Amino acid sequence: MKIIETIEKVRREVQNAKSKGQTVGFVPTMGYLHEGHLSLIDEARKKHDIVVVSIFVNPLQFGPNEDLDRYPRDIERDERLANGAGADLLFYPSVDEMYPVEMPMTIHVNKGVDVLCGASRPGHFDGVATVVMKLFQIVQPTEAFFGQKDAQQVAIIMNMVSAFNIPVDIVICQTIREEDGLAKSSRNVYLSDGERNEASFLYRTLLYGKELIENGERIPQLVLDKMNTKLQSGSGKLDYLSILRYPSLDRPEELNGTIILAIAYQYKNARLIDNLILEI
Ligand code: PAJ
Repeated sequence: MKIIETIEKVRREVQNAKSKGQTVGFVPTMGYLHEGHLSLIDEARKKHDIVVVSIFVNPLQFGPNEDLDRYPRDIERDERLANGAGADLLFYPSVDEMYPVEMPMTIHVNKGVDVLCGASRPGHFDGVATVVMKLFQIVQPTEAFFGQKDAQQVAIIMNMVSAFNIPVDIVICQTIREEDGLAKSSRNVYLSDGERNEASFLYRTLLYGKELIENGERIPQLVLDKMNTKLQSGSGKLDYLSILRYPSLDRPEELNGTIILAIAYQYKNARLIDNLILEI
């Protein structure tokens, strides 16, 4: 695996591979890799000749009071893990390489940001869309791999690809979980022991919502009320609990079609998100 810090070099490597007819799978990340990220690299490895992984903690997508400065980082460990998972190129640019000057323009997301994390983190998805647009222009992959764990993010990226006619296909990969069901996340390291023991109740609550729907409940508010009761027992604070259509993220009157059940929950030092997508 080659570690590349400049845009020019990663471009050259990818163009070189493409000129030989090779396909390129791309996995954008912010590092501190875990099995969720590795499963995306694995999928990319199965389908493509060249696998590019990027590690960049993107300042543009963090709000002023968020965890940019203490976002977990360990590049040596990440190098080992990415290499072990079969990445060919690890693109690891500095902030100066990505943003040499203050961005003279950025992407503003108009649809799908008034709900879920978009509502609690104003500007977050503008920052995500802007950096992913840049990364797509830099790497120019055949396919890019994203996790369902960040379901709103991947819905917005799919809209961006379609809105700007970007020649890349988006692949959504399933959420990888700890044994007790907690979705793997780089931020789980910030949970106290007590919070970590408790946190799998988020997934159990999603499964409970799924069960209610599978047993015939079709009124979103009734499902939400029952799920909410379960969440009251937690020691953190509920940020949101929502049922929406997916991927449009519109509010359903009645439950049918493809639906997302989504939770965000704030512990002392970590905000956790999780979701289930159901076909009704
Ligand atoms: P990051 O949080 O590092 O996540 C990188 C990718 O890994 C995302 O597509 C995310 O959905 C996926 N992922 C995270 N946890 C997962 C899990 N438990 N199972 C499966 N996939 C999982 O998302 C970002 O970085 C950034 O916003 C980024 C897209 C890189 C733009 O900066």
